[in-house]
Amino acid sequence: MRSASRFLVALAAVASYLPSAFAQSAAPTKYTDPTTGIVFDTWNVPDVAAVGDTEADQTSGGMTFGVALPSNALSVDATEFIGYLQCSSNDTVNTGWCGLSLGGPMTNSLLLVAWPYQDQILTSFRYATGYTTPDLYTGNATLTQISSTINATHYTLIYRCQNCLQWSQSGQSGGGAATSSSFMLLGWAQAFPAPGNPSCPDQIALLQHDNGMNIFGATLDANAANPSYSAWAARATKTVTGTCASATATTISSVPVPTGVTYDYIVVGGGAGGVPLADKLSESGKSVLLIEKGPASSGRWGGTMKPSWLVGTNLTRFDVPGLCNQIWVDSAGVACTDTDQMAGCVLGGGTAVNAGLWWKPYTLDWDYLFPSGWKSTDMSAATTRVFSRIPGTDHPSTDGKLYLQQGFDVIAGGLQSSGWTQVTANNVPNQKNRTYANTAYMYSDGERGGPLATYLVTAKGRSNFNLWLNTTVKRVIREGGHVTGVEVEAFNNGGYQGVVNITSISGRVVLSAGTFGSAKILMRSGIGPSDQLSIVKSSVSDGATMIANQSWINLPVGYNLDDHCNTDTVITHPDVVFYDFYAAWTNPNVTDENLYLQKRQGILTQAAPNIGPMFWEEIQGADGIVRQLQWTARVEGSDGTTNGKAMTMSQYLGRGATSRGRMTITPDLNTVVSDLPYLKDPNDKAAVIQGIVNLQNSLKGVQNLTWTYPNASTSATDFVDNMIVSYSNRRANHWVGTAKIGTDDGRNNGGSAVVDLNTKVYGTDNLFVVDGSIFPGVPTANPAAYIVIAAEQASQRILALAAPQALAQYAQCGGQQWTGSFQCKAPYTCQYQNPYYSQCL
Ligand SMILES: Cc1cc2nc3c(=O)[nH]c(=O)nc-3n(C[C@H](O)[C@H](O)[C@H](O)COP(=O)(O)OP(=O)(O)OC[C@H]3O[C@@H](n4cnc5c(N)ncnc54)[C@H](O)[C@@H]3O)c2cc1C
Ligand SMILES: *[C@@H]1O[C@H](CO)[C@@H](O)[C@H](O)[C@H]1NC(C)=O
Ligand SMILES: *[C@@H]1O[C@H](CO)[C@@H](O)[C@H](O)[C@H]1NC(C)=O
Ligand SMILES: *[C@@H]1O[C@H](CO)[C@@H](O)[C@H](O)[C@H]1NC(C)=O
Ligand SMILES: *[C@@H]1O[C@H](CO)[C@@H](O)[C@H](O)[C@H]1NC(C)=O
Ligand SMILES: *[C@@H]1O[C@H](CO)[C@@H](O)[C@H](O)[C@H]1NC(C)=O
Ligand SMILES: *[C@@H]1O[C@H](CO)[C@@H](O)[C@H](O)[C@H]1NC(C)=O
Ligand SMILES: *[C@@H]1O[C@H](CO)[C@@H](O)[C@H](O)[C@H]1NC(C)=O
Ligand SMILES: *[C@@H]1O[C@H](CO)[C@@H](O)[C@H](O)[C@H]1NC(C)=O
Ligand SMILES: *[C@@H]1O[C@H](CO)[C@@H](O)[C@H](O)[C@H]1NC(C)=O
Repeated sequence: MRSASRFLVALAAVASYLPSAFAQSAAPTKYTDPTTGIVFDTWNVPDVAAVGDTEADQTSGGMTFGVALPSNALSVDATEFIGYLQCSSNDTVNTGWCGLSLGGPMTNSLLLVAWPYQDQILTSFRYATGYTTPDLYTGNATLTQISSTINATHYTLIYRCQNCLQWSQSGQSGGGAATSSSFMLLGWAQAFPAPGNPSCPDQIALLQHDNGMNIFGATLDANAANPSYSAWAARATKTVTGTCASATATTISSVPVPTGVTYDYIVVGGGAGGVPLADKLSESGKSVLLIEKGPASSGRWGGTMKPSWLVGTNLTRFDVPGLCNQIWVDSAGVACTDTDQMAGCVLGGGTAVNAGLWWKPYTLDWDYLFPSGWKSTDMSAATTRVFSRIPGTDHPSTDGKLYLQQGFDVIAGGLQSSGWTQVTANNVPNQKNRTYANTAYMYSDGERGGPLATYLVTAKGRSNFNLWLNTTVKRVIREGGHVTGVEVEAFNNGGYQGVVNITSISGRVVLSAGTFGSAKILMRSGIGPSDQLSIVKSSVSDGATMIANQSWINLPVGYNLDDHCNTDTVITHPDVVFYDFYAAWTNPNVTDENLYLQKRQGILTQAAPNIGPMFWEEIQGADGIVRQLQWTARVEGSDGTTNGKAMTMSQYLGRGATSRGRMTITPDLNTVVSDLPYLKDPNDKAAVIQGIVNLQNSLKGVQNLTWTYPNASTSATDFVDNMIVSYSNRRANHWVGTAKIGTDDGRNNGGSAVVDLNTKVYGTDNLFVVDGSIFPGVPTANPAAYIVIAAEQASQRILALAAPQALAQYAQCGGQQWTGSFQCKAPYTCQYQNPYYSQCL
């Protein structure tokens, strides 16, 4: 059955959908409203069918946003504006809703939602901290209406928006437009179905937008600021509130942690790192508890989320490769809600929701990025183990055929004629310069496969392995540098509540909660930069119970954030054949459905949206560094080119890029990317540009191929220079680096590492991090296989460590430089003397 709650999830969520008009020129059009005489700078989203990944449905009439500003707004930042919003409906009953982000992306921006209801247009201010239904905005923005009109195809609202250009929610503040810069980064979204509870703005239920979304840069010209502003603003007299019934609160039921049970290892988070690690630790005979925040995903573990055509099978939406992009359509109950980035909070983590791309590492990635003990020769046995369990395939259909390869052939043909070499990527992982390949997936037998179908199966077969679902780890409980357990709470019904203890003296805790999740747990446990720990200390939820300042461990958690920088390009060619994977959710082609269900064959065994070819190039920069590019071609339009004959080719800038960003925590303990890791270094940008030029040249010989993004009249340099750098359009969802591995102990001045070569957190004797967080930077390719390999490697290094020992009376048990044991034999306890010394007394 289709989920009843397809929430609004991703205003400007995926790679860029900038209509070309906005991407290259954000120039406004002057519009004078005939009724009110108000003059606006306006920007129009053209009426095109099915733009981009997440929109399967047809649009029926674009959207226009306009702004009028106080007379001095182009020199002094305004705090208010008069807005013009014209949105589309698709039938004679007034339906639909439209949304505006005043900061660009959906997350961490003030959002305005408007919808027609009876003869009025209702509005609601919202704020989203993650890809979930945005919360009510609690700040001081106010909206008063000047005029509203509704007809069968459009609804139009002219309104005054006060305190709308700066915002603050739960202690986090921000601002979109500094109007004096004559530029606003905005976002829009539209949906055809009406919100649930449409009469009550505070209680609307939003399904995820199905009629487009994007960010856009809006350049303001002289028409935006007008001496008549005050007179116009005075006409805003109408407050439309709607009518509300009383709301009902829901609570989550929890189960108390069973008393008297301890575990040798607690692994926190069942994703790419946590599942393999928990399996390997349990294989050694140790008792292991794997705690996962989310519910089951794959049918193999009791998952239930599925479209109607999978009812009665052992499959869920997560098991069928062709449904993998459903995360971008309906992520309610799947996406993490405590981060402003997309991540899977279900069993399997990213490996349950991702596109399954599965790459044997280029040895240079380990050699260039990682410290000793983690070089390619050190990793080769772990790599062999992982690829023997999850070999992956570039022919996922069980008949060995590839389906709908017309798009592949167009691009691959061009590359080949220009001297690029076709390879089987995982046979020759080091051939990553001017090579192309069929896409390799972790899939097996036509299903998702991966860690959930291998490592978790062996782990589950052992009596010393335990798995808790629906349970969030809030923090580790520690005495100085020694952890004794973890504090948990229910995330969904049936989750656990309380403190789980590890085996006295020898127990260990491993955080595998992902690049944002593990960093957050560290911070909540008093481990991180002091500015971040102060935020936790001041928080409503943790402040009173947080570990004392004296026990804080200052490490650069959250710094060194990295991700592939994505740059989308689009071409069209008459041979390309589009397949509607989104329609395959509700209304699959019966032939394809039967082929899949009966034989695990056909197009639905391939990841949406028909990915390939994959191609690679290495570019040496003026700084001497070789930067890796990976291109992912896929059969879909974007950035203003409609589906049908279009292919989007996303360029990822990987190994060699030097730009890094930062993740931070908010007062309500959500994690945000507060500093983007993209293109800070001109050599990073130069590689992106050069890669596009090289591709344009390589595809020159392909007859009838048309570049639409950038188009023929735009140079690659202008294209890249003018492309907005926002996570909305530049991220690859390959976040790594917030708890970097290295020998330069981050407790010391200038030290950048959070974990040592055994993945042990500096300043602790039994706390580890094993997931994407420890990566010093992004590698060549999509990282899931690399993370599984790192988990295999980490398991060996952790198991090889000497068992933790409790120290005798008077022994040193802590201090700024201390790397030994942090625990004391009973009845002694480790007592703080000064920052450099703690002692067993
Ligand atoms: C939409 C999308 C598509 C992608 N496509 C690909 C691809 O095709 N190929 C590829 O190689 N990579 C892909 N990636 C990236 C890849 O999936 C991730 O890099 C990888 O899964 C990260 O592994 P991890 O172990 O660090 O974290 P995750 O896999 O995210 O696992 C973290 C787990 O910890 C849980 N957790 C978080 N906080 C807590 C807590 N406090 N308590 C308990 N549990 C917690 C989460 O629910 C989650 O299950 C994609 C990512 C996304 C989001
Ligand atoms: C409905 O409103 C839109 C926008 O104002 C306008 O373009 C369109 O002509 C109107 N349709 C009718 C039938 O009046
Ligand atoms: C409204 O809130 C914003 C953002 O928090 C703040 O900057 C501004 O001073 C507030 N304005 C008023 C009038 O309270
Ligand atoms: C309007 O859009 C909704 C949701 O996408 C769809 O179900 C409906 O059929 C559309 N109506 C018309 C008249 O196109
Ligand atoms: C964990 O250990 C503490 C201290 O020994 C004890 O008080 C507590 O009851 C234990 N918790 C459980 C769930 O057994
Ligand atoms: C579903 O059942 C088939 C046939 O028994 C099996 O091969 C497959 O692994 C199962 N898949 C899942 C996700 O349980
Ligand atoms: C986890 O939560 C989901 C969603 O509420 C629920 O359907 C499932 O039964 C729970 N699973 C367990 C093991 O508690
Ligand atoms: C369904 O897919 C098959 C190929 O698998 C194709 O031949 C057929 O035309 C499609 N049917 C429809 C109605 O699109
Ligand atoms: C990549 O291949 C091209 C074409 O053969 C070559 O000119 C270039 O030097 C190679 N790049 C690197 C970094 O080796
Ligand atoms: C290019 O288009 C022309 C005109 O439509 C057509 O005749 C020709 O066969 C096409 N060539 C290729 C290689 O697709």
